[in-house]
Amino acid sequence: MGLTIGIDVGGTKIAAGVVDEQGTIIARTHRDTPADSVDATAQAICDAAAELIAAHDVEAVGIGAAGFVSSDRSTVLFAPNLAWRDEPLGARVAEQLKIPVVVENDANAAAWGEFAFGAAKDAEHMICITVGTGIGGGVVIGGQLLRGAHGVAAELGHMRVVPGGHRCGCGARGCLEQYASGTALVREGRARAESGSLGAAQMLSVCGITDPAELTGPMITEAALKGDPCAVELLEDLGRWLGEGLASLATMFDPSQIVIGGGVSAAKDLLMKSAQQAFEKNLPAKSNRPHASFGLAELGNDAGLIGAADLARQPAPAPEKHR
Ligand code: BGC
Ligand code: NA
Ligand code: ZN
Repeated sequence: MGLTIGIDVGGTKIAAGVVDEQGTIIARTHRDTPADSVDATAQAICDAAAELIAAHDVEAVGIGAAGFVSSDRSTVLFAPNLAWRDEPLGARVAEQLKIPVVVENDANAAAWGEFAFGAAKDAEHMICITVGTGIGGGVVIGGQLLRGAHGVAAELGHMRVVPGGHRCGCGARGCLEQYASGTALVREGRARAESGSLGAAQMLSVCGITDPAELTGPMITEAALKGDPCAVELLEDLGRWLGEGLASLATMFDPSQIVIGGGVSAAKDLLMKSAQQAFEKNLPAKSNRPHASFGLAELGNDAGLIGAADLARQPAPAPEKHR
């Protein structure tokens, strides 16, 4: 198969690209993500894809969606931070575009992109964790993307890390996503500023704002990269949650490579170093076992797009075995 389209549906932007078999994006386009309308979102996805199809000879479309996707890679069953509920996204887009469409979880797609072409291209066993509005996860074991019985495997962000902790968009309490996502970063930053801490007041001024309500994740990341102590501490806290979570995950999956991606990974070493430190410190049997390597997503924000395009090349999952 030659060219395919990959589409990453984010909270604010739908990014689409034509991708070749080497994982290179040869053309791009984008649309704004329509707020709160699943119909308008499906239409914007179709528009972006149609624009690329008109100019390139493509054979299939892969969509990375921030939610739980059915095992036939077609329906978004649920999205904790978006309006999708049993949304037949794949069928809708395929019907309009008259082209095969594969829907995959956005973080599974990013993991696959990093596994096939990025930071884990030399690994056979890897975990990718994406840190943005939510926390996404993707696990590749023995070269195979883990999908689970129902397609919804590797929702790493919804691993419980605090019994009875913050309520999560998934309905449960204490999920990692509530402590280590961009959303959690902003919640903590605002809480510090509202509590009247001097350090937080300085952080706001570095961000060029006075009202804590105006604080965003990218602002905190930028302030941290400029060396603002409060912002640095917020990102280090986040990294610690991540590293502790990853230590538990490594006991289950024993990866050789861990990849950190998503918007918050723009904080680079600040985030990765604290995550890695917490990981090394908390890994069970740490002195008596090999440790996984840590790396940032090499494909950056394109990991999901490239991974989705590549997954669109792969045949549908094998039918269940006979019993
Ligand atoms: C969702 C995942 C998604 C992740 C990142 C989580 O809240 O449950 O499906 O991969 O956010 O977008
Ligand atoms: Na996933
Ligand atoms: Zn959750």
